[in-house]
Amino acid sequence: MTNKYTISVLAGDGTGPEVVEQAVRILSATQKEYDIELSFQESSIGGDRYLATGDLVTEEDIKEFNESDAILLGAIGHPDVKPGILEQGILLNLRKKFDQYINLRPVVLYPGVETPIANKTSEDINFVVVRENTEGLYAGAGGFVHYGTDQEVATQESINTRYAIERCIRYAFEYTKNSGRKKVTLCAKTNVLTYAHDLWERVFYEVAEEYPKIETDYAHVDALCMWMVKNPEWFDVIVTDNMFGDIITDLGAMIQGGMGIAAGGNINPNGVSMFEPIGGSAPKYTGKNMINPLACIAAAAMMMGTIGEKDYGESLENAVKKVASEIPSLSAGKMGIGTSEVGDKVIEVFE
Ligand code: IPM
Ligand code: MN
Repeated sequence: MTNKYTISVLAGDGTGPEVVEQAVRILSATQKEYDIELSFQESSIGGDRYLATGDLVTEEDIKEFNESDAILLGAIGHPDVKPGILEQGILLNLRKKFDQYINLRPVVLYPGVETPIANKTSEDINFVVVRENTEGLYAGAGGFVHYGTDQEVATQESINTRYAIERCIRYAFEYTKNSGRKKVTLCAKTNVLTYAHDLWERVFYEVAEEYPKIETDYAHVDALCMWMVKNPEWFDVIVTDNMFGDIITDLGAMIQGGMGIAAGGNINPNGVSMFEPIGGSAPKYTGKNMINPLACIAAAAMMMGTIGEKDYGESLENAVKKVASEIPSLSAGKMGIGTSEVGDKVIEVFE
């Protein structure tokens, strides 16, 4: 029986369309072997549309996404749009609208890929960050008083509900169990954020009791950054709040070989999830066939695995792994071949 899915393709800005094009091409070329039929629905969301119409995310967009099984995102960010407008109005807005409450970011160094950390190999760098994706400092709570005056005050509150913390932590333990991993580390700052992270810590150990076979650990975020560089082998699954998750996953991307390979999923386990390469729109490389599409292809692999096609997702990931080890560098412009040739190589793995 053929499994059919509709994928919304939000190519977006900058190099987004180029990397997404390769991911879609690869999915189109390889799906049949797995008895899968994907139909792709292109979304016009992005900086260009915003500049032309003022629209960020419309009712029509939401309807489209609601009718699809997942969203594959290229990049959001346009040099002619003030920073923040598209990120808030599109990316963060979609994460919240679709209640994609988990941001899942594997930090896995594939064999043969270079890491800036001396003496560490793919055996050492292999963990997953589970980032809370709807609240914390990203909740949008705060404001200005006396705006524009010398007395101006700005507040930005971190919102931490037991509900959101608990579902995030529970996801981390379930993920650990189902992926055969062994340990969950809570990354927080309980010595300073004595309210918000006290709640995180209490919920963490409460939920942990339901998973007696899974080891638990705790690290303050600053120390964790140090250990991610010094002893990355200590980590297996890390669960953390939105802001810390944002920061530590950029560090994670660097130790796994850079933005050319780092992918993430904005996941609603009961709804429409959105998968993306975690690098930005890279205006400098736009339209030059220089950007590395592997991160987007890895995002597509994660997408297929998440929507229920585990074997297909794994095969796609293995193909990414193989090609990553074959090109001299994962960085834009240093790959030795172009964006589309990297795509060709991934397809060749399946032939
Ligand atoms: C990310 C990005 C976003 C974030 C920005 C673009 C709003 O950095 O996906 O990590 O902070 O979450
Ligand atoms: Mn980020």
